[in-house]
Amino acid sequence: MIDTPAQVESRPTAPSVPAPEVPRQPRPERHPEEGTPDPVFRVKDLSFYYGPHQALRDVSIDIGAHEITAFIGPSGCGKTTFIRCLNRMNDLIPGARVEGEIDFEGRPLYGADIRAIDIRRRIGMVFQKPNPFPKSIYDNIALTPRRNGVKKSELDGLVEESLRRASLWDEVKDKLQQSAFSLSGGQQQRLCIARAIAVRPDVILMDEPCSALDPVATFRIEELMAELKGDYTIVIVTHNMQQAARVSDRTAFFTVDVSDQGRVGVLVEIGETSNIFTSPEDQRTEDYITGRFG
Ligand SMILES: Nc1ncnc2c1ncn2[C@@H]1O[C@H](COP(=O)(O)OP(=O)(O)O)[C@@H](O)[C@H]1O
Ligand SMILES: [Mg+2]
Repeated sequence: MIDTPAQVESRPTAPSVPAPEVPRQPRPERHPEEGTPDPVFRVKDLSFYYGPHQALRDVSIDIGAHEITAFIGPSGCGKTTFIRCLNRMNDLIPGARVEGEIDFEGRPLYGADIRAIDIRRRIGMVFQKPNPFPKSIYDNIALTPRRNGVKKSELDGLVEESLRRASLWDEVKDKLQQSAFSLSGGQQQRLCIARAIAVRPDVILMDEPCSALDPVATFRIEELMAELKGDYTIVIVTHNMQQAARVSDRTAFFTVDVSDQGRVGVLVEIGETSNIFTSPEDQRTEDYITGRFG
């Protein structure tokens, strides 16, 4: 496995909306020769089991701050399993077990002192199918911050800011009290992104966020990701290689390793997206991206 985090030179343009008043961590200075110097996640030899079934074997990967990292690979190679390890969502599955290490912002993510509630606040998640709450557009954004103690007087501003950042504000500002289900699929997905942003996370994980959307709505989400990465670290699972090539800075290719022991997901390589798609180091990556796989 190749584990050479690549440096990405391009700086995203700032979103055209006011920054949140909560100070964010300054963006680390980066130097190409140093790879990803300040990874948000540092994963070492991660294996994952659903009961007796091993789904991932020895995954080691660094995920850099303020980058978009794409996970690609054939169905069943463990992309969803892996991204769900990054915010401990798999904890909820009976019999599931993680081996190895994941550091998040320099601390063990699976450490005894880490509370799931803190993780969910710092690491947001957007799912394949938009899953707004059965509530108003306003309450979809306001519910969790309100529970977290954000004052009533600040909620309107937070709702507007989150919807603006998700580039949805102009479309919904006159109907904030309508049901979220009155929105189109693409709007619902941007609402879910706005909801994730509203708790001011550091990281947004997205598991095939566009797979239920039409091309226009997909384009809007991709544009949005490019705007957001100035402020957030984004990890996206996508089955769409063109999407990975368009939106991501770095791409990780996973595959299914088949042996006498069975089928298990492995990370083949990770690198700068342009390298992965033009000159991958591993033949399995080459076969996959050129469509020769399977
Ligand atoms: N909740 C679960 N219980 C048992 N096995 C699961 C569960 N979820 C996924 N798996 C298995 O783990 C492997 C990886 O699945 P998944 O992470 O969903 O792959 P991908 O997202 O790349 O398609 C597959 O063999 C799948 O059947
Ligand atoms: Mg999946």
